[in-house]
Parts: sequence; C-alpha cells; structure tokens
Amino acid sequence: MGLWKLVRGVRQLELHRLILVLIVFCLLSMAFLAYFVSNSPKIKEAPPMPFSDCGGVVAAAAGGQRAPLFLPPFTVRQRTVKAVDNSRTEPVVLVFVESIYSQLGQEIVAILESSRFRYHTEIAPSKGDMPTLMERDIARYALVIYENILKYVNLDAWNRDLLDKYCAEFGVGIIGFFKANENSLLSAQLKGFPLFLHSNLGLRDYHINPAAPLLYITKPNEVEQGPLPGDDWTVFQSNHSTYEPVLLALTKSSEALAHLGPHRALHATVVQDLGLHDGIQRVLFGNNISFWLHKLIFVDAIAYLTGKRLCLSLERHLLVDVDDIFVGKEGTRMKVTDVKALLSTQNKLQTLVPNFTFNLGFSGKFYHAGTEEEDEGDDMLLQHRHEFWWFPHMWSHMQPHLFHNVSVLAEQMRLNMQFAQEHGIPTDMGYAVAPHHSGVYPVHSQLYEAWKSVWGITVTSTEEYPHLRPARHRRGFIHRGIKVKHCHFTVKLDNLIQKNMKESVRFCQEIKIILIHLILIDTALLQLDQKYSNIVKYYWNLKKTNPCHDKRHKDIWSKEKTCDRLPKFLVIGPQKTGTSALHSFLTLHPAITSNFPSPVTFEEIQFFNGPNYHDGIDWYMDFFPFPSNVSTDFMFEKSANYFDTEVVPKRAAALLPRAKILALLINPVDRAYSWYQHQRAHQDPVAINHTFHEVVTAGPSASKELLTLQNRSLKPGTYATHLEHWLVHYQARQLHIVDGTLLRSNPALVMDGIQQFLGVTPIFNYTQALVFDEGKGFWCQRLEGGRPKCLGKSKGRKYPEMAPETRAFLTEYYREHNLELLRLLNLLGQALPTWLREELQSTSWS
Ligand code: A3P
Repeated sequence: MGLWKLVRGVRQLELHRLILVLIVFCLLSMAFLAYFVSNSPKIKEAPPMPFSDCGGVVAAAAGGQRAPLFLPPFTVRQRTVKAVDNSRTEPVVLVFVESIYSQLGQEIVAILESSRFRYHTEIAPSKGDMPTLMERDIARYALVIYENILKYVNLDAWNRDLLDKYCAEFGVGIIGFFKANENSLLSAQLKGFPLFLHSNLGLRDYHINPAAPLLYITKPNEVEQGPLPGDDWTVFQSNHSTYEPVLLALTKSSEALAHLGPHRALHATVVQDLGLHDGIQRVLFGNNISFWLHKLIFVDAIAYLTGKRLCLSLERHLLVDVDDIFVGKEGTRMKVTDVKALLSTQNKLQTLVPNFTFNLGFSGKFYHAGTEEEDEGDDMLLQHRHEFWWFPHMWSHMQPHLFHNVSVLAEQMRLNMQFAQEHGIPTDMGYAVAPHHSGVYPVHSQLYEAWKSVWGITVTSTEEYPHLRPARHRRGFIHRGIKVKHCHFTVKLDNLIQKNMKESVRFCQEIKIILIHLILIDTALLQLDQKYSNIVKYYWNLKKTNPCHDKRHKDIWSKEKTCDRLPKFLVIGPQKTGTSALHSFLTLHPAITSNFPSPVTFEEIQFFNGPNYHDGIDWYMDFFPFPSNVSTDFMFEKSANYFDTEVVPKRAAALLPRAKILALLINPVDRAYSWYQHQRAHQDPVAINHTFHEVVTAGPSASKELLTLQNRSLKPGTYATHLEHWLVHYQARQLHIVDGTLLRSNPALVMDGIQQFLGVTPIFNYTQALVFDEGKGFWCQRLEGGRPKCLGKSKGRKYPEMAPETRAFLTEYYREHNLELLRLLNLLGQALPTWLREELQSTSWS
C-alpha cells in the first residue's frame, strides 16, 4: 500500500513536470514564432482605405500626417502617432546633402525640381550649425531629407534634440538614405533606434508591400522579377512594430546571409517608420534612388510625410506626337510594314492606357513622294486615318521663323489644310507643331498669328523654353492666347514600347491618362507633364530664357529679331526730375536713338514695370529700329517709373544685362511737390481737394485715396532704397547718377558727362545745340536760325512756391534717406548732386 502510494506520488510528480515542460515548450515556440514573424517581414494585406488625392486637404483635416492604417495582426501598437496641425509648416523640403556635388543629393534635388516641390538645400552639419527651422510661429520646413542618414543619427545631442523636437511638434517627417560602401559594417544597429542594418548585399525579386501606408503612385502587390542592380544593398531588420517594410527582396545567394534567417525570407530595403517609437515618422532607404522603383517610393514618401501637401497627382496628361508623316528622303520613309507596326504598337499601348492614340503630324507636300513601297505606306496610313489623331506640321516642312510675312506663312498652312480636307484627315484638333519647334520659342509672332487664323490653333509644344537641358527646367507658357506645352522627351518610335513604358504603367496606380504625347518616358513617370500646371503667363521672365544669350535660340530666330534692336541704355527716372528734358537732349545726338513712341503711353514704352512685359520680347523689340551701325548707334528708352518699381531691375537685367542705367535725381522735396502739381494739373480730385501740406502730413487714419497720393508723392524720393535694388542686378559702373538740378541750370555740362559715361561718339556740342528760353525759364533745343524749341506746357509748370513749413517738414522727412544716399554715392564713388551738397550744408547734419 505504502509502496503503491510512493509510486503514485512519483508518477504525479512526473505528470506535473511533463505538464510544466509542455507549457515551457509552448511558450518558447510562441516566442520563436513571434520573433520569426516580426523579424522576417511578410507581405500583408493592403490597407483598407485608399489615400486621398493630392492637395493635403483630407490629411490636414485629419491632423497632418495620416495615422497608420494598417495594424499588423501579430503586434500590439503601443502608441499612435500624435495628431499634428500641418497648417503651421511651410510646404518646403529641407534637404541635407553631403556636398554640393554629391550625386545622390543632386538626384534628390532633380526629383524635387521636376515635381515642382519647393526645397532648400544645406550641407548636412555634423554639429553646431543647424539651419534656422522657425520663422516667427511658422515652421519653415514640412519635411527633412538626409542624403546620408548617418549624419542625422550621429548629430550632436543638442542639435539632434532640437531637430527631433521640431519634427515631433510640427509633424515633420524625415527621409533618409543609407548607401553602403566598402567600409560599411556588414551588420550594425542604427544608433538610437531598434533597427538593424545588414549591408553590401545582392538582392533580387523586388516586392512592393501593399500594407505600406505610404503607397500612392506606386501600385501595391507588384513584383519586379530578377536581380536588382549592384551588390551594395542594405536591408533593415527590426522586431519593433513601428517599422513597416515598403520594398522587400530576396537575397541573391543564401550563404552570405546566415544571420538574416531563412533563405527564402524577404528582406526590407525600404522601411517606413510609423512614428510609434519616438513620435517621428520616417522613411529609410537602404540604397540611393538610382533604381527607378525607389524614385516612385521616394515621391510617395514625400507625399505621405507632408500630408499630401507635396504630392504628384494621379492624373497625367500625355500625348505622343509622331512628327514628319510623309516627310523624308526616299528609302527612309514608312512602308506598309511600318504602318502595321505603328497600328500594332498602338493596340498594345491601348491595353495599358485606354484609348491611347498616336498623334500624327503631317506635311502634305511630301505625300506620295517616296518609292512605290513607301507610297503604299502613305496610302495605308490614310486608309487608317480614323484610328489616329492628326495635327498639321507644315505643308513643306519649312521652319516658320524663316517666313517674315504672315500671309505667305498662312498660305503654306492653307495648302496643308487643303491636303487634309482632300484626304479626309480630321483638321479640328486645335493643336499644331512647327518643324523643329521653330518660331514657338523664341516667339515668332507671325507663326502664332497664322496658326490662329488658318487652323484655330490653341495648343502647341516646344522643348526650347527656357532652354533645352535639363528637361525638368522647362516650362510652358501662353503667348497670344496659344498655350505652349513643354515636351520632356523626344523618343524614336522604335523605343516607344520598350520596357520603360510598360513598367511605368504597370507599377503606377490608376493613372488617368487622358492624352499621350511624344515625350515619354521616364521610368518613374516623374517627369511627365501635368495639365498645363506649369504654364506661365509670360514667357521670358527667367534669366536663362534670354534668346540673345543662346546661340541655339538665335539660330531659330527670325532674321528680323536681332538683339541689336534692344536698347544700350535706359533712363529710369524717377518721374518729375527732368526726364523729358533729358530725353529730348539725348535725341539731339546724332548717334543716339530713342524708341518709337507708344500709341498708349506716348514717349515711354513702360515695358519692364507693368502688363506690357507679358507681351514679350518681340513686342518690346518692335519699338526700336534696326541700328544703322551696331557698334556706334546707341538706342535707349526712357520710362520714368522704372526707377522705383521693384521688379524692374531684375527684369531689365535679365534682358539687358550690359545696359547702362541713367538715374536723374533732384531734391526729393521738390520732386514730391512737382508730382503733386502734376496730379492737380491732371484734375486728380484728391490733389485738388487737399493742400500739398495736407497730403504729405496725412496720418494713418486719413482716407485711402489721400494715403495713396501721399505714397506716390513721397516714395520715389527715397532714392537710396531704390538705387540699392538696381545695384543688386547691375554693377556700380553701369549706373550713372545725373544731377537733375544741374541739368536744369547747365544742361550742356551734364550732357558732356553723360556722353563720356556712355562712351558715345562723336562728342556732340550741346552748348551750340541748346538755348535758354527766357519766357519758358528753361533750356530748350536751338533750331536753325537760333529759335528755341521747348518742351510742352506740362514740363516746367508755373505754380506757387512751396509753403516753408511744408519744406521744413519734408526736409526732415527725407533727412535719413538723403544721408543714406550720401553714403551710397560715396561708396560708389559717384559725384554728389549739387542739391544734395546744398541740403548737407544748409542743415546741421552730421
Ligand atoms: P515742373 O513741371 O514741376 O517744373 P519730368 O520730365 O521727369 O516729368 O520732369 C518734369 C520737370 O522737369 C519739370 O517739373 C521741370 O522742372 C524739369 N525740367 C528740367 N529741365 C527742363 C527743361 N529744360 N524744360 C522743361 N522742364 C525741365
């Protein structure tokens, strides 16, 4: 009995042990399973909700960055990302590059530029010199990109803390790249993060994880079969739930990767940090962005991390033009087999892009001008004409800029139209392309006119504006109501159906392609044009677009458009300082020519300062004659409000960088009074109803109209401020300050100085050319026989003296400004005008 009890006791003990062992075993296997699952990323289900479209509205309303949509079933998310208000951040990217020449940095910038995202680059600081992140209450950047993520993780504690606090507070995400090199450790932990890096790997079969919340342009679930380029890939490994793989791949060989788990496991080379670790969302790349899929993910990461404020729309407008239909020498033209190939290519593309249609540009003159076989090709094209779109090229394939006469150009177009009508080619596209884009930019107005009148063209394209390369800098523009799109790529037809296009379409989500044009095909579809979104109203406001500085542009410019038809110097004002007198004296000089008068603004063109600027260079040039001798003739224009219109110096310097600039200064007190009298003479009700004293002394509570008049009287007289704007764009030696008081009292002396400054020959004798008119009280032109020819009544008006208290008030008002002018002129080494000297002497300035 006792023995039996003992045996039973031992058996019970074994049973307990057995159960205990079983429990331990279960726990261990669960732990192993959990570790394996979290360590070896698997493709998971797609997120339940689609991402909103670009614009950031939904994301912003939801509080900035979108909270993660997908919670992996095997992990428990400890925290959720703090909701942030991204209205407090500027939609600008801060890019930390390794150096201004670093390749990845340049690739990052190229993508930001082609996507039209605003950005600012800085050399990544190691310590101590983090750029200013805040401007008043606004965060200056909505996203931070590190070309080298190690620069971020190795920041000194102070700066790292500063940057992380900034990111957490304003919901600013970080994108970082880790590009391994031969010195990189094979395996290492990313400092301060629960993330391990395994470097210098060869990978293959790239998978897109549909569960990655950032996917937008990139289509989930696709696999890029085959080896990835290079053997320097880095994969990320973590068991923290904050990391969601974005792109995963298999290793090329099993041996090298014993430490990474099973051979068939997928390894993440791009991971999205959901912000569950430290409240900051990040996207990390285990390579650069050379691989095309990384470009897509990079753009998606930017969109995601900026709450869609920097985002590429899914809607793309593409058009494939096939120019030169019927054109070409015998033996180089399309035959029946080529036409069949074109149709079959179109059919293939239609399976990828619904309704894809090639757009054929025809030059009718060459129809049936090939070999017999080629003529059959022409016929076949026409038989299938309704399967294509058509646009007029040029009847004889001549470049439009070679036609000066609009009617001759229009006649050529009519011939092409007649051809189209005879052969049943549709003619209502409203789209045309000029051979070599000639005449589109630089603009040849005759082309635009003829296109409009014959074909009713509303859209064309160019690859010239503002210059050929790089393509991402090209812009569209609108000229005379015709929209000019910019082409990105010209491709050979043979290349059209290459892998790039197929891959791009396959890997991009739901792109609504409306049209396809010439132009394809960057693998990542990054550079494709969006619907006129980049079109600007005027077309040469950029420094780089000046056709006078570009040989290629000059070659496709009409012979009439010579840059010699532009002014060599400008008289910039300001108004009421004697600019008309100076203008009239200058035109007496045999080698100096002014512009033709404008029917609207009379002697002044007023090009750089206002809406005329949008009429472009041709419009401006038409105001000037052909110089009879390019080197000795001096053309100029005077527009007196150029002086104080801030945008003018930049625009003027963009077109006329070598121009000389004449500014005429009189005592600003007298200038203000003259302006006031000018307004009274033009029946300005505010000037009529208020004394000059009331105008200049009006306080902030005065009527808007009174304050406007006050501003227009006083502002041009703050001379130094305006001159400084000019000096940003012109060198000091290009600027000449003309003493307006001296011009009035001794014009011959002043004109001698101007001749010297301009370097104009022959030296003209103004003492003989001018005569003082007692009645007018001013110097005037001496006509033959000694009679004076003076300026009209509006110049040198008779009006009462200024009240002494007003003069005193204004003298005080301009005191600081005049002192600033004194300093500036001294700095420039320019002579002080007499009135400034007198002001200095008569007041106790120090
Ligand atoms: P007032 O009419 O107030 O006297 P602007 O041509 O820039 O509008 O400047 C007009 C001013 O030029 C006139 O202002 C006048 O004082 C000054 N002026 C200088 N020389 C002149 C001249 N030879 N004939 C007429 N006005 C002259």
